[in-house]
Amino acid sequence: MRGIVLLSLIIIACSFAQAQTARKTEDFDANWKFFLGDDANAKDPGFDDTKWRKLNLPHDWSIEGNFDEKNPSTQAEGGLPAGIGWYRKSFALSVASKKKQVFIDFDGVYRHSEVWVNGHSVGYRANGYISFEYDLTPYLNFGDEKNVIAVKVDNSEQPNSRWYSGSGIYRNVWLVIKDKTYISHWGTVITTSQVSKTEASVTVKTNIHGTLIQSAYLKLTVLDAQGEVVASRISAVTDTTISQDIHVNNPLFWSVDDPYLYKVKQQVLSGDKVVDEQTTTLGIRTFNFEADKGFSLNGQRMKINGVCLHHDEGALGTAINTRAVERQLQILKAMGCNAIRTSHNPPAPELLDLCDRMGFLVMDEAFDMWKKKKSKFDYSKDFEKWHVQDLQDQVLRDRNHPSVFCWSVGNEIGEQFDSTGVRITRELVGIVKALDNTRPVTSALSEPSPSKNFIYQSGALDLVGLNYHPEFYADFQKRFPGQKFIGTEQMSALASRGHYDMPSDSIRRWPKDGKTPLKDGNPDYTVSSYDNVSAYWGSTHEETWKIIKKYNFLSGMFIWTGFDYIGEPTPYLWPARSSYFGIVDLAGFPKDVYYMYQSEWTSKPVLHLLPHWNWKLGQTVDVWAYYNQADEVELYLNGKSLGIRKKAGDDLHVMWRTKFEPGTLKAISRKNGKVVLTTETRTAGDPYQIQLIADRTKIKADGKDLSYITVKVLDKNGVVVPDADNLIKFDVQGSGVLKGVDNGSQTNLEPFTAKKIKAFSGMCLGIVQSSNQAGKITVRASCNGLKPAQLSVSAGK
Ligand code: GAL
Repeated sequence: MRGIVLLSLIIIACSFAQAQTARKTEDFDANWKFFLGDDANAKDPGFDDTKWRKLNLPHDWSIEGNFDEKNPSTQAEGGLPAGIGWYRKSFALSVASKKKQVFIDFDGVYRHSEVWVNGHSVGYRANGYISFEYDLTPYLNFGDEKNVIAVKVDNSEQPNSRWYSGSGIYRNVWLVIKDKTYISHWGTVITTSQVSKTEASVTVKTNIHGTLIQSAYLKLTVLDAQGEVVASRISAVTDTTISQDIHVNNPLFWSVDDPYLYKVKQQVLSGDKVVDEQTTTLGIRTFNFEADKGFSLNGQRMKINGVCLHHDEGALGTAINTRAVERQLQILKAMGCNAIRTSHNPPAPELLDLCDRMGFLVMDEAFDMWKKKKSKFDYSKDFEKWHVQDLQDQVLRDRNHPSVFCWSVGNEIGEQFDSTGVRITRELVGIVKALDNTRPVTSALSEPSPSKNFIYQSGALDLVGLNYHPEFYADFQKRFPGQKFIGTEQMSALASRGHYDMPSDSIRRWPKDGKTPLKDGNPDYTVSSYDNVSAYWGSTHEETWKIIKKYNFLSGMFIWTGFDYIGEPTPYLWPARSSYFGIVDLAGFPKDVYYMYQSEWTSKPVLHLLPHWNWKLGQTVDVWAYYNQADEVELYLNGKSLGIRKKAGDDLHVMWRTKFEPGTLKAISRKNGKVVLTTETRTAGDPYQIQLIADRTKIKADGKDLSYITVKVLDKNGVVVPDADNLIKFDVQGSGVLKGVDNGSQTNLEPFTAKKIKAFSGMCLGIVQSSNQAGKITVRASCNGLKPAQLSVSAGK
């Protein structure tokens, strides 16, 4: 009987393929009320919030504040304010929704959040990075009577982080309305097996909740990137968990260069009705770590050329904006980066979606500490109570992303040095493996001695993740026999964009004595950009990459960091408030070493010259060039050759030492005598004019999309003035607003939400956001004494 029904259902399901699904996922970000402060009565539905500020989520209130050394968040978190904040929103539900199940999904709230609906507490979460869902159904009103949701966010215990965390409901919120029978939250697990060029077996396990088990059917459809059905099957829902196998013929593989994505559609069917429907991204790929050969993806050996990223988006703070993250990833992709470590916490879901789509491998990290604290009020206080649920939720949420290729259960955890590390490591790895046994688990270890490291001693790690100490990497196989290497965190090299100290060929570790403040630093809190300065526990980019590159068994690394981030401004004290570690500065402008990686990691021809060409007459200046696809570079100063240089051995750059004279420095790279590339740097005169460059001149009129406007201060001849620090004022009119400003300087204490900012090393940035109104956005930038500039961006539906 079930068989006959099944057959007719297949026919029905085909003809009703477009049928209205019962699930409604609503973007719940709009029209919230916000109050910075505490008021216990705010949870009550009748509370008067008319005087509260109206805003849309995601929202980070810390980024709107002023930098202040005295803020309890401390310099480690960027010196921005934290505190307690309340959010409220009222909403109506149709009478028809009475028959439904209504959930609210928070992608992340920093931190210690409690949620009430109509005065009933529906849950509390301590962890500021975890996603969670609450079932609102028992407490809801329908029809004319409204519902009030209230959220208290408590980030008042400070310090609680070693970097800028942001405060508030800083990720997206969704209202999900489902029928009484539905696919459970994170109740789908998709795995692939027997993957070959001709076939891949896809197993989809679906957890279903509700009254229709025993009578419903589950239809599974695999769609290719064009939306064409490539495989499909239908099964009776006989239990709460249904496992279905499906075959994809001649699969196209997901890889970092060609991240091909399929979609898996699950439909719960009852008669001719689609009771629930969900679509999940599928990437078919295999990968392997081998102790002696390193890493391979789809059978091809490759290095993991990764970077660590904290979650801030520079001037926008931590309020998730998909375009802001996409831009960061585009900049990294163009450098040749192929992997991201989400240091040191679960990321926004949008980051993983982008990595799936853009082709980045992701090391998905859970914790920066277990029970041993790193700052006074950090997660160590919540670990005991919450670690099981937090880790489970992270794996449940993220395990279907093709980009996620390994889990890290911790970063430089204090229990490395303590025998309790053995038990906790085994427990955490066990939690991960129970939910996902398709990916290796590691932990980022800072203690490189195997005998002294209790996390390593647990024997539970699939990959030995090492932070720093590249001096031991060549001997890794001897020190960790039979083990697989992953460089979880490397370098911690330091630089300020556009600043250069001579000479360039001696390496400095800052602070030398391991004590802050740095005594022999620069009075203007800059660090030289010649890739010759690192934190005393770290190493320069070149020092480290040379080693990783040399040995196949070193599967790859994650550089600390891809972008500068707010907080942790090693090696300086206040007014430094953001990091110097990035390959790219906080505003998104590459520092010079970006081009070293680009020359090594991409096939794009590169010839990059540094430094700028404004020095004192007769001063000795070191000129460096990063290049590839050529066998030599010749440098000319005002037409006179300064000689040909060729990289020898494992060199990653070439250098000329010369006396400065103003004019034009020109480099030509050649291969077999033929010119590959030419580049020039000219001496700039006085600041004369402003230039504006938009990364995108067409954006969406959705109130979210962004255009990043680079401002350059130029001389009369159009040359960037390398030390220009003119105060640039922005005026944005039309269908958009100025959302933030930045210049990449680690010491700029002007708020990111100001309408003006000084140029730093000749450049600054204005971030323009669309409104919901289609139309033209006019951006003007002006400065006393300089020729202003203007451009327009069009925002369309
Ligand atoms: C590492 C740590 C990172 C960051 C870095 C700065 O030890 O894991 O989170 O603090 O140092 O160099």
